[in-house]
Amino acid sequence: MDDKASNELIFYVNGNKVQVSSPDPEWTLLFFLRDKLRLTGTKLVCGEGGCGACTVMVSKYSPDRKKIVHLSVNACLMPLCAAHGLAVTTVEGIGSSKTRLHPVQERLAKSHGSQCGFCTPGIVMSMYTLLRNRPQPSMQDVETYMQGNLCRCTGYRAILDGLRTLTTDSGGCGAQNCCRTNGSSGCGPGDRQTNGTGSGENGTNSRENGAGSGLNGTGSKENGTGSGVNGTNSGQNGTGSRENGTGSRQNGTSSRQNGTPTNGAYREEDRVGTSLFDTERLTPYDPSQEAIFPPELMLRPDWVSRPLKFSGPRVTWHRPATLSELLRLKAAYPDAKLVNGNTEIGVEVKLKRCEYPVLINPGQVTELTSVTWDEDGVTFGAAVTLSDIEAELQAAQSQQPAWKTRVFSAITEMLRWFAGTQIRNVSAIGGNIMTGSPISDLVPLLMSADSQLTLMTSSGEQRTVPIRGFYTAYRQNIARPDEILLSVTVPYTAEDEFFMGFKQAHRRDDDIAIVNAGFFVRIRDQKVRTFRATYGGMAATAVSATKTEQALVGRPWDDSLLQEAVSLLLEDLPLGPSAPGGMIEYRRTLTLSFFFKFYLQTCGWITGRVDESCKSVLEKFHRPTPASTQLYQVVPNDQPVEDLVGRPVAHMSALKQVTGEAQYLDDIPPLAGELHAGFVLSSRAHARIVSVDAREALQEPGATHFFSAKDIAPERNKTGPSPHHQDEEVFRAETVTSMGQVIGLVLAYDRATAQRAAKKVKVMYEDLPAIITTEDAIRENSFTPTVHYFEHGDVDIAFYSAAHVVEGSVRMGGQEHFYLETVGCIAVPKEDNEMEVHVSSQGLNINQMLIARALGVPANRIVCKAKRLGGGFGGKESRTCSVTTPVAVAANRSGRPVRAVLERDEDMASMGTRHPMLATYRAGVTAEGKVTCVEMEIFLNAGFSHDLSLGVISRATTSCDNAYHYPAYRITGKLCLTNTPSNTAFRGFGGPQGSMVAEAMMDDIASQLRLDATQVRMVNLVQEGHLNVTRQPMVQVTVDRCIAEVVQKAGLRRLQQEVETFNRLNRWKKRGVALIPNKFNIAFGLALLNQGGALVHIYTDGSVLVTVGGVEMGQGLFTKCYQVVTRVLGVSADRVYISETATDKVPNASPTAASMSTDLYGAAVLNACEQLRERLAPFRKAAPDGTFSDWVLAAYQSRVCLSVCGFEVTKGLAFDPLTHIGDMYSYFVFGAACSLVEVDCLTGDHQVLKTDIVMDVGESLNPAIDIGQIEGAFMQGYGLFCMERLKYSPNGFNFTRGPGAYKIPGFGDIPLELHVSLLRGSPNPRAVYSSKAVGEPPLFSAASVFFAIKEAVRAARAQNGISEPLRMESPATPDRIRMACRDMFTDKLPQAPEPGSFKPWMVDL
Ligand SMILES: Cc1cc2nc3c(=O)[nH]c(=O)nc-3n(C[C@H](O)[C@H](O)[C@H](O)COP(=O)(O)OP(=O)(O)OC[C@H]3O[C@@H](n4cnc5c(N)ncnc54)[C@H](O)[C@@H]3O)c2cc1C
Ligand code: FES
Ligand code: FES
Repeated sequence: MDDKASNELIFYVNGNKVQVSSPDPEWTLLFFLRDKLRLTGTKLVCGEGGCGACTVMVSKYSPDRKKIVHLSVNACLMPLCAAHGLAVTTVEGIGSSKTRLHPVQERLAKSHGSQCGFCTPGIVMSMYTLLRNRPQPSMQDVETYMQGNLCRCTGYRAILDGLRTLTTDSGGCGAQNCCRTNGSSGCGPGDRQTNGTGSGENGTNSRENGAGSGLNGTGSKENGTGSGVNGTNSGQNGTGSRENGTGSRQNGTSSRQNGTPTNGAYREEDRVGTSLFDTERLTPYDPSQEAIFPPELMLRPDWVSRPLKFSGPRVTWHRPATLSELLRLKAAYPDAKLVNGNTEIGVEVKLKRCEYPVLINPGQVTELTSVTWDEDGVTFGAAVTLSDIEAELQAAQSQQPAWKTRVFSAITEMLRWFAGTQIRNVSAIGGNIMTGSPISDLVPLLMSADSQLTLMTSSGEQRTVPIRGFYTAYRQNIARPDEILLSVTVPYTAEDEFFMGFKQAHRRDDDIAIVNAGFFVRIRDQKVRTFRATYGGMAATAVSATKTEQALVGRPWDDSLLQEAVSLLLEDLPLGPSAPGGMIEYRRTLTLSFFFKFYLQTCGWITGRVDESCKSVLEKFHRPTPASTQLYQVVPNDQPVEDLVGRPVAHMSALKQVTGEAQYLDDIPPLAGELHAGFVLSSRAHARIVSVDAREALQEPGATHFFSAKDIAPERNKTGPSPHHQDEEVFRAETVTSMGQVIGLVLAYDRATAQRAAKKVKVMYEDLPAIITTEDAIRENSFTPTVHYFEHGDVDIAFYSAAHVVEGSVRMGGQEHFYLETVGCIAVPKEDNEMEVHVSSQGLNINQMLIARALGVPANRIVCKAKRLGGGFGGKESRTCSVTTPVAVAANRSGRPVRAVLERDEDMASMGTRHPMLATYRAGVTAEGKVTCVEMEIFLNAGFSHDLSLGVISRATTSCDNAYHYPAYRITGKLCLTNTPSNTAFRGFGGPQGSMVAEAMMDDIASQLRLDATQVRMVNLVQEGHLNVTRQPMVQVTVDRCIAEVVQKAGLRRLQQEVETFNRLNRWKKRGVALIPNKFNIAFGLALLNQGGALVHIYTDGSVLVTVGGVEMGQGLFTKCYQVVTRVLGVSADRVYISETATDKVPNASPTAASMSTDLYGAAVLNACEQLRERLAPFRKAAPDGTFSDWVLAAYQSRVCLSVCGFEVTKGLAFDPLTHIGDMYSYFVFGAACSLVEVDCLTGDHQVLKTDIVMDVGESLNPAIDIGQIEGAFMQGYGLFCMERLKYSPNGFNFTRGPGAYKIPGFGDIPLELHVSLLRGSPNPRAVYSSKAVGEPPLFSAASVFFAIKEAVRAARAQNGISEPLRMESPATPDRIRMACRDMFTDKLPQAPEPGSFKPWMVDL
């Protein structure tokens, strides 16, 4: 076969033919697109198929089906060699901001579905593929296609609203010739309208759709007079505009739409906007406009399917065309891997550094790709993809009686929760079976169904074996090296056979199982004849519960069987206390919970009845399309049309982001002579470095240099972002104090070589004792010297006289930033020791200063620049210095430009997280629950160095009142030093931790005093003039208004009653509701940071160039700044441009953080523009009928300087940390949120049914951006409090280094209803145009979900007679929820061994 095989790879990209001779089989499609074709729109985020940012569409012609098939795939996992004969479409191939946008791109941009934009091309391509397959999709289809895509910024609602406009749920009728697809302008009256867009009110918002392709174009003034009200974005249940109408009425506003009085006099402050974009003016989707499939790929099936062989330096790729060729290859290379989707092999190569020299792709072998049906069931070739299996089985279920397809139904249900669409589209059943992962989702089902595997040897011998008994040990099976898996046969079920599958994961969509199971029972003559139970996640392989299986035979299916099965299952499925995966008790309980559900369901099947109180826990998880509303105050009618302040204009870069044109750091084209850096990171938590040997690394062809501590003078090696604590090193010299520290850098001609070589650097260590957890640090007295302490009043006396004293503690885990773009930089050495450093950092100044110090040059030689970041959230503030300083040293020493971009796992292993917290509290309380005194001790795990932790603990301690007033208090904050990565800023900067202590305390007070939790919160609420913990008077307190609005909007009283009824009627599902107020302190805690600069030039053509000290990372800073310019200078938006942030334009800038960027840089721009306006005033006066350009030209001709620096200093900040005198904060942002949740008490799963949020953001500069920030922060907070759990080994190894192990919320996690309102009529005199800061404050609103979960758990415990106080740690992950519920199943578990008597697999920091 080798002789016949071609070495020519031919495929199409965006309609262009690509031919590559002998491609390297190690190349992924993503690498080729980005590095070889320079199509950088497709992004690399994780490289492990877990985020979808690299999604592209591949299309192929299926000669059998005579059909073109379109698939969304992860380009990061797809081997380039697998692209032969395919047509690849990338985000660049479907539309452009310069020519024509594709409707998906247009809608996503206009709906504000893009913030940092790094996830956006992947989302565009998932949706595009859906449209190519189904031009009139439903929202359900959209959610399925989005299962494999993540976004860290938006909170998903805005994305879904944009995509909804392309679905039948949008108001399109779904008919063949619907106006949404036939090119006409919109549905006429009477057509189905679910999003309230029919009224045609095109107020000020519609300027978004001004002339040309711009989002915020200035050409059209036709819509300048309306109110900007364009219906709603919800659309669930077809209520559409009515839903919002109702909302507004609840709201009590009398005149809303169009500002037309409907009830009494018109009031300016009642002008409410309910739509953030205009759905009327969208380009209709016309499938006939799509690019055609390359005809050559249809017409030349011979070369599309011919055998291939590609040889690279380390790996050879074979693609045989027939089974015999495949077997011959397998005989020749017994160790060869058969590669289908590469979703397992790709991850092994990337993350486990496995090497597979021979790969065989069986994709053209008919026997492995076909599906055969007979009277016993179905046989799938081993290379059939999961998507095809899903489609086959679904079709069978629609054609066969339900009883016959019970296994198929369980498999399709399982596939719904198996990875994301992109993975299912390529991965094959054979890959899943042969991998034999102990948490494979298919294996337990196949085993319980008694499926058969057909294996074939290289000589063509076949044997069929049951899959039960196939696995021998962890990822080991009985197949011999020369055998391949040919096919798998799955049987039908008989009428008396029952089957179900279960899976529990941390996240419902796209997550691997914690435990899964498959159950089969045959019941004849009311007795069990056969029973099979197989579990995944309970041992090194999927296991059968053999004792239980045998013991149940012959027994009637009744309660006594249940009782016996529960005891037997515990015997069958033991789990040692140190078992990999941890969560021992939870996993054991799940085995019982799953069986119990199967038992109940089978009772139902047999008898036709299920106990009413148990029904809800048997329902298959079904998620209706989420609904949402957004309310905000619209601008006055008489606001000039070019003045964009207050309008929901789209993000400045939205068009570039949706088309892939937006350039991020790693999209910068290679520079001449550029080298790539590979990091040598410490692999011990605490150790002495005995030796570092790079000799082998430097022998790697292409490796050029190695740098380490030896290459920098010791005094310059000392570094650290905290000016008073230089407790870090550029390169670790003698010891390492955490895993993930930089020991050295290898430079090479390309990234892959640099990384490969870096792994070959040998570091010898001598281990030293390590401190990992906060508890370890407290025990070892490992603290930083500074203790934060606030005291007021006579606390002891207050406790003495208190009616009640409530005590408790709370633990809150850390949180990964999980910005989609990892940290990176490009350092370019220049003459005179100058260096230009492009860096993905929100703290350019600190990078500049530390690079200058490491190089021993003045700061005036170093320029740090950032165009935009793919998210930051605080994680790119100071920690980026640990990348930029060694890279700058390497660039300086080598004299070459050096590019370094961290891999996802490197980033997560080394960049630090939000500080984990442990806190204790004690409160003196009256009988009504009013707090009279408080004592709190807060410990934050700082990691190995100070970094910014002093600021974080300062904010935590000054936020521990949340929105409450404490008459007397004693508050202590301590920073624990541990041998873990240095923890750092993260949205909220300690604020959420502090507020969490307050809320945990309120929650305990209410439960211990048996009071209503909302009532307790209300009686303690802060009021105007109260002094906070730094003795600063509280001003502009609006929390009571926010709460009142939330209570009314959510219908809290009604909800509480409904919850009570639901909980009474449902045994295994419980609901909870909680309302949480929210206060965030605004200003940098360190007064000197509250300054900001801007540089504004006006050129003689009237165009305006703005540079600010702040960095654009998706939060919309630049957009708000240019809105300010339009108002002050009175120019249209198209004249204004903000290019990038650079330290040579605006020096000494504070980091873009603390929610302060608009307050500082927006104000600095305002200041600069006011100066310019004054300079232009005489020319304007002289020619009042002239244009802006005329005045500018006249000013220039009169030699007036048209370049101005603007500057802003936040006034009134004078807090002295020693005396505690003076104001620490500028003002306060308030809000309130109410959430309703439902918990499955048997599994710990939960769903957020409804969240209402009201935030006071003053007079919003841009309601779309502000609501986007609120929703994004809410979902990030939801991750923090309910989902994202860092997992560390007891010796300091971070297991959670990628999206596979660390779960951030996905599309499927947004509340079923999400209602966000901006408090109206609350101008803030202390910031730009009466606005307020918005970035961080809303994050804590997600605590409402956490406390609603606690309420639900309390209901479960009360039902089970448990009255002890409930202590639940954050995040409320399924294991914690389940174990807190406690019932007859958890009671069956044997006593857990004493902590300390064994080494757990995992610890919480
Ligand atoms: C993001 C992500 C999410 C995932 N989610 C899930 C999940 O929810 N549930 C789950 O169970 N798994 C999950 N997986 C694991 C993986 O996708 C599946 O196991 C998948 O079915 C593997 O198929 P593949 O075709 O990609 O395998 P490949 O990577 O191509 O191959 C895997 C292994 O199977 C062997 N092999 C393949 N075919 C044959 C054959 N015919 N004969 C002999 N050996 C063969 C290969 O040699 C190789 O060792 C996930 C993976 C990723 C990356
Ligand atoms: S980069 Fe490919 S899925 Fe994350
Ligand atoms: S916009 Fe989605 S990750 Fe930033």
